[in-house]
Formats: sequence, C-alpha cells, structure tokens
Amino acid sequence: MVPKGGDDMAKVGKDTRITDSRLFDLRWHRGHRALTSPLARLYGKSHDLNKLLGRLHDLLETHSKNRPADLRLLDLERDIDPDWFLSQEMVAYVFYIDKFAGKLSNLPKHIDYLRDLGVTYAHLMPCLKPRPGQSDGGYAVMDYREINPALGSMADFEASATALRRAGISTCIDMVLNHTAKEHDWAVRARAGDPFYQDFYLMFDTDILPRKYELGLLEVFPMQAPGNFTHYPDIGKWIWTTFNEYQWDLNWANPEVFLAFVDTILHLANKGVDIFRLDAVAFMWKKMGTNCQNLPEVHDILQALVQATRIAAPGVIHKAEAIVGPRELVPYLGTGSHTGKVANLAYHNTLMVQFWSALAARDTRLMTYVLRTHFPQAFTHACFATYIRCHDDIGWAITEEDAAHFPPMTGPGHRNFLADFYNGSFPGSFARGADFQSNPETGDRRTNGSFASLAGLEAAEESGDAKATDLAIARILMGHTLIASFGGIPLIYMGDEIGMTNDHSYLDHPELAKDGRWMHRPAMDWKAVKTIAKGNSPAARIHAGTKAILTKRKQTTQLASDVPTRILDLGHPGLFIFERLAEDKAITSLFNFTESDQRITPWALRLDPGYHYIDVLGGAALSLRDGLIAVPPYGCLWLRPAAPLL
Ligand code: GLC
Repeated sequence: MVPKGGDDMAKVGKDTRITDSRLFDLRWHRGHRALTSPLARLYGKSHDLNKLLGRLHDLLETHSKNRPADLRLLDLERDIDPDWFLSQEMVAYVFYIDKFAGKLSNLPKHIDYLRDLGVTYAHLMPCLKPRPGQSDGGYAVMDYREINPALGSMADFEASATALRRAGISTCIDMVLNHTAKEHDWAVRARAGDPFYQDFYLMFDTDILPRKYELGLLEVFPMQAPGNFTHYPDIGKWIWTTFNEYQWDLNWANPEVFLAFVDTILHLANKGVDIFRLDAVAFMWKKMGTNCQNLPEVHDILQALVQATRIAAPGVIHKAEAIVGPRELVPYLGTGSHTGKVANLAYHNTLMVQFWSALAARDTRLMTYVLRTHFPQAFTHACFATYIRCHDDIGWAITEEDAAHFPPMTGPGHRNFLADFYNGSFPGSFARGADFQSNPETGDRRTNGSFASLAGLEAAEESGDAKATDLAIARILMGHTLIASFGGIPLIYMGDEIGMTNDHSYLDHPELAKDGRWMHRPAMDWKAVKTIAKGNSPAARIHAGTKAILTKRKQTTQLASDVPTRILDLGHPGLFIFERLAEDKAITSLFNFTESDQRITPWALRLDPGYHYIDVLGGAALSLRDGLIAVPPYGCLWLRPAAPLL
C-alpha cells in the first residue's frame, strides 16, 4: 500500500522518536500532493496510477535509506532553510573538468582558486560516460552511472564532491533527460527488438507520422544534423533524433522512463551531487501539430522530478536548461499551479541575449521593454541563473512582437544585425565571433565566440589599441556586474574571469571540427592565472575586477535572489536601470551601455532627496556633477541610501 495523507500520519504521530524512516514518512506526506497531481495528469489515464505511486514510494525510500550520513545532515539543513540557494553569497563557476583540471583527481588542487574567486557552486560540465567518438560535448550519455573514464572514476567523483562540499562549494552536474546516446543499454536493447525498451524511445515503422510531426518542428542543428528523425534500415525504424543522429529522444509518455530517471538522479545524488542541470527540457514532450517545445506536460514532468527528489534527498535542487523565448521561459520557474514546485533554477537566456543586443546597439530600450514586460519581479523558491556566456552558441531570441515596439526595428532585421555585429562583419563592430547553424530556409543564424572576443578584447589586443582594450575590459566587467546584481545566481563560465579569447584549435580535431561551439571552449590558461597577482595585463585586470564585483555582491544582502527586481523605464536609451526592492534599503543599479558618459538626474531615479547615497560597487559616496549622476562608459553603479541629510 502507498502511504498517503492523514491516516498514515495518525499512525506515525504516536511514535515520538525522530528516526530516518520517520523523516522519510514526513517528507513523503509533505510532498505527496505536489508529486501525485502531475503524475496523475501525465500517466493517470493510460496507466495504473496506484501501482506507479507504489513503485515510486519504494524507490524513494530505498534511496533515502542509502543516503550517506553527511548528505543526510545537508538534507536536514536545507529542509530547514529550503531557500539556501537564494542567498547573495551564491556564485557559480562552470567548467569542463579536462580543460580546467585535466582529471577529476586533480580538481581538489584547484579548489583554492575557486574559493579565492568567491565560488560556492561548481558546475562540472558533462562528466557521465559518453558514447565513444562524437558525443555533442558529452551530451550523448551512454551510461548515467559511470563517470567518463577519460576524467576518472566514480570514486574520484565522490572524492571531488566531498572536497568541494567541505570548501563550501556545491556540485552541479548535467542530467540529460531528453535523449540518450544510441549506445546506451536501453537503446541497444531497443535496437535488438526488446519491446519494453523500444517503448523508451520514439520509434516508428514508417515515415508517415515522422513526416506529419516534421511539419510543426524546428531544427536544432540544421547544418550538421538536419531533420528530427533518423531512419535505421537495419531495424526498419524511424527514430526521433532532435539533436544529432546518435542522440535518441526518450519517450516521457512512458512512466518507466520517469521511474528510470528518478532512480538515476537519486543514485547520483547519493554520490554527492547537489544540483542537477536538467538538459534540453523544453523538448521532452511531443504532441502532433505543435513544435514539441515547452508543452504543459514538460512542467508536470519537472514538478514530479523535483518533488520526488525533495522527498528522498531534500538537499538537492534542480536547474532547468530551457533556452527559449521570454514568454516560454517564465513557467520553468513556476507559474500558476506549479508555483514554487518546479525547477529551482533556470537559465536567464533573455537577460543574456538582451545584454549582447544592447551592447551592439548602444541602446537599452528593447532590453528594458522585454525584461520589464515579460518577467515577474520575483519567484517562489526559485530564481534565475544569470549568465553572459556559456559553452553553447547564442540564439538571437528576439521576437517579432517585441521588435515591433520599436519601429522601424523588425525581428528578422534585428536578429540579422546582431549576427552580423558579432561575427564582426557589421561596420565598426568590435566583436570577433562566428556564425553558427545558418539556416537559409528560415534566415536564422546563431553566434559563437568567447565573452572576451565578442566584447572586443581580441580585436583590441591585436590592434594594440590601449583605449580599445580598456573599453573591452569595461564591457566584460559590466557583464559580470549585471549578472551579479540582477537577481539570481551568477554563472561565471570558465576563463571569462581572465578574459580568455577564442580558441580555433578544435579545427584540428576531426571529431570536433564540424561544431563551431568548440571555439569558445578553450583550456584554462593557468599561465595567465599565475601572472594575475603581479601584472596589469587584461587577464589581471579582469580577474581583479570580477573578484571585486563578486565580493561586493556577497556583502550586499539586497542582492539576494529573493529580493524583487523592478526594471525602471525612464526613457534613457543609454542606460539600463533596475531596483532591488529590499525591505530595508533598496538598491538602484545603473549600467551604461555606450562608449560615452551618460547622465541622469537623481529625481528621475526617484532617489530620496533626504539621504546621502553611496555607490556600493565602487565603495564611495555618490558625487553629483552639476546636479547630475554621471555614469562613465560601460560603467555601473549600485546606489544605496546611506545616512540621512542633516
Ligand atoms: C543542451 C546543451 C547543448 C547540447 C544540447 C543537447 O542545450 O547545452 O550543448 O548540444 O543540450 O544535449
């Protein structure tokens, strides 16, 4: 029987001992409703829900029992303080293990570097066993219970996670939910004809249905992997492959897939994972006649996964990777009946796109409009992961409707401008990026390039123009300041704290050469790191600047992620401005997206005339020039009332 609500609690209530199994029962009781409702919607009509819940209960109980003692303590701490990750102390660092440390066993040696920068959350890029050869940077997983042998063993992973935890750093890994490698055991069995495992994937005997689905679908990799289905003549099947041919989409309409992933997630949680980055979640549910992205069922799956984890391993949280338009993005952090129950974190790709858009246009109006119009000021038990660059390309997610607010701007026109600006071909562009997946049919083009190269450092260094170098550094530090103060956990992508530029060496590796994203995945430049304490190189300046920004963030409670963010629309095209509405003293943040000084009156900012203000970021009193606040080129201010004027 599946313990449910009140009756079972009455039985439990007579026992006054606090045992692990008692805690589990209490957590099952607490999460039961939030877990059951999405499962009923997903599987209730097609499957025996009670049976499913019974199996799930046992699975959760087993993993909960197997949880190591130190993680149980963490569970308790985070159960008492479930919003622990909303603290302004949180700072994330994202890296490939091989490119950062060589092997997992070397990772602990680099913990001091992370701590010095202020990192409290380390995202170890794909580290589970990938298929051999091409693996989409590790996102084609062959075995979710083994570590990539090139990086080390599961024991090495556990040791790293423990060392990180002792240093106050949470461990995040990728959990690829939408697909497995075609070499995964489930896929191998499916291919061999096992009907149980064939139902784990989306397989078709003819291309009739695939062709119908295709009518609504987009292509993720139109150049390297056109279409969304692959025909396998050896088994006479068409298989759904949204990404590459070797990545087989899973059938989440099958509850066995759900159970298998709960099992996998909790297994890895017990090895020391604190945060799961749920990869490519937008694609998990398919429905004929739609583009099969962001369907309501995806949010039900996420709620069920999050709630199941919260019962068995409440110390663990989840981050959704849904790189989608602003309207589709918000529900990933919980809206309507999902409020406070789905992913704890989601990538703020709109903020990222709008940062680059305003930088190229030297105009913040679209950024202000989009961020003000489509996003709430805060979420419940959730926040964004704010970032400027990551390992992927930049998709120019500017919608037609948003662009139409700024005639004569159009969606395609602005997207083209951004792609041209960042591949460096637009006249006067400071960027050194490259086009990615140009699709002649849709006119869509995405962009590759490292933060520093896109922000102008590569071109400036090449030309030897010191002023251009200063501007590029200021742009980079403005990006770091934005993600450190906007609300959410800032993600620093490895190398961006020392201004690493593009790396073209991937072209020498046949397995990587076709995927331009490797251009912005360079190996960590430890030589440059050695010089940062002494020199005045761009790397040293960017590192010092980044560290100072992160230190200030941690000291400023108003920047915690549960403090609402209100974007101000003051009609000033050079400045992006928002307030963090803390209960005590609000912070007003200003960012100058142009190469010239920008001025604004204190009254336009609604600063309280009865107060002295300080710029928390610069650590100095706010001084007015001719009664105006002046923000230098690419400068940032975090203004907070200090003492009342006498
Ligand atoms: C995510 C990853 C990306 C990968 C894709 C397919 O978007 O960030 O690198 O190609 O999922 O797994």
